[in-house]
Amino acid sequence: MKLWDGRFKEKTDPIMERFSASIYFDWILFRHDIEGSKAHADMLEKIGILNRQERDAIKDGLDRIKEEIEKGEFPFSNSLEDIHMHIESRLIEMIGDVGRKLHTGRSRNDQVCLDMRLFLKERLMEIEKNLLNLMGIIIDRAQKEKEAIMPGYTHMQRAQVVTFGHYIMAYYFMLKRDMERLKDMRKKLDVLPLGSGALAGSTIPLDREYVKERLGFSDISENSMDTVSDRDFCLDALYSMAMIMLHLSRLSEDMIIFSTQEFSFVNLPDSLCTGSSLMPHKKNPDSLELIRGKTSRVIGDLFSLFTLMKGLPMTYNRDMQEDKEPLFHAIDTVTESLVIMGLCIKEMAINTQKMHDAVYSSYMPAVEMTEYLVLKGIPFRDAHAIVGKMVRECENRGIPLYKMDIDDMRLFSSVFEGDVYEYIEPRNIIRNRKTKGAASLDELERIIEREKAYLNSF
Ligand code: ARG
Repeated sequence: MKLWDGRFKEKTDPIMERFSASIYFDWILFRHDIEGSKAHADMLEKIGILNRQERDAIKDGLDRIKEEIEKGEFPFSNSLEDIHMHIESRLIEMIGDVGRKLHTGRSRNDQVCLDMRLFLKERLMEIEKNLLNLMGIIIDRAQKEKEAIMPGYTHMQRAQVVTFGHYIMAYYFMLKRDMERLKDMRKKLDVLPLGSGALAGSTIPLDREYVKERLGFSDISENSMDTVSDRDFCLDALYSMAMIMLHLSRLSEDMIIFSTQEFSFVNLPDSLCTGSSLMPHKKNPDSLELIRGKTSRVIGDLFSLFTLMKGLPMTYNRDMQEDKEPLFHAIDTVTESLVIMGLCIKEMAINTQKMHDAVYSSYMPAVEMTEYLVLKGIPFRDAHAIVGKMVRECENRGIPLYKMDIDDMRLFSSVFEGDVYEYIEPRNIIRNRKTKGAASLDELERIIEREKAYLNSF
């Protein structure tokens, strides 16, 4: 029996029932739906719509339904559409007519908003935890590899010497912005929608303040029509998810490149790679490729909700049921991707020798050589041209800059002195950089200490 069929003469077509059903994905909201219903029942008792026994019977029934669902004993059926109707129907079946009072002053329109907010509050907390865990792993790695020099790239060309520690901390800061974004999300989610009804509120004096306290919200929504038609909080969450995936995808891409035989800067853990069915020698970075691949779907999730919402008239429209699958998908994908990336960064081996050799066989210290000349009074543009010519000469001779002897250097500029070799020595470069945020050992140590404190503040 349907809960809304009073005004209907004909039965719903089975194909329509299947088309309309969301139970196969929204059942996941059952705990939040029940939590919301229990608070609603307490409020109805408080304002005299339910007496005590009725309220207790409803709450007890709801607890039993939760158990049935958890044990997998609850029968789901397309004819009851969604999780809200399943629970309410079962409640009526279980405790009789008293159950028919629960939906007083409530609509599935405000109910589904409540469930989604409660769901997101919980799942974003888990994502925050996984994010912090990954950030901690990155800091440990940065600390271990704080002196491991490597080339920093622009245009995929060796550009300037950095350390692996400084490099990997770049990803830490992306994730820190994600963390701060999630903290903002907490505020946005913290608004009680229940009490808005279908779209206009109620003549029954519902005590929204009480429900707010009871469910731990810090605010109450202020316009019933906005409340039931609002999915901004889902879009905000999806944007946050897409950003996390974007960051993980770029890190994946780096690690995929760095783990090639051509680079061999890192060796990924076997436990996160797979072999080839044909080529016996292969070890493929599938975990990272999948993160990169799944990123496209999470970005798609964001776009799908934007597109869903852009033409909807006020207020609730059934289109909005299509908000859930992209949202759930994005949340699940981010939760798992963060764990996979954590394992990868923690367990991969770093080949410091390879990175070191890549630094020493490059012309990257040309930048610091230019700075050396500038500090000796040569205008920057001239210094740039001088060192450019020296690089060309070294390239012709097949030697790195530091192998050119001082007399030859002086042919390019008379200000060169013996101390230039110290100045362009990669390890010294890392020690000599002065600017805030630079790839320097002092800066890295300062940042690591400060960010450890940030992580400990949670
Ligand atoms: N399953 C519906 C959804 O997720 C719940 C709200 C249904 N409201 C309605 N008026 N049909 O959007």
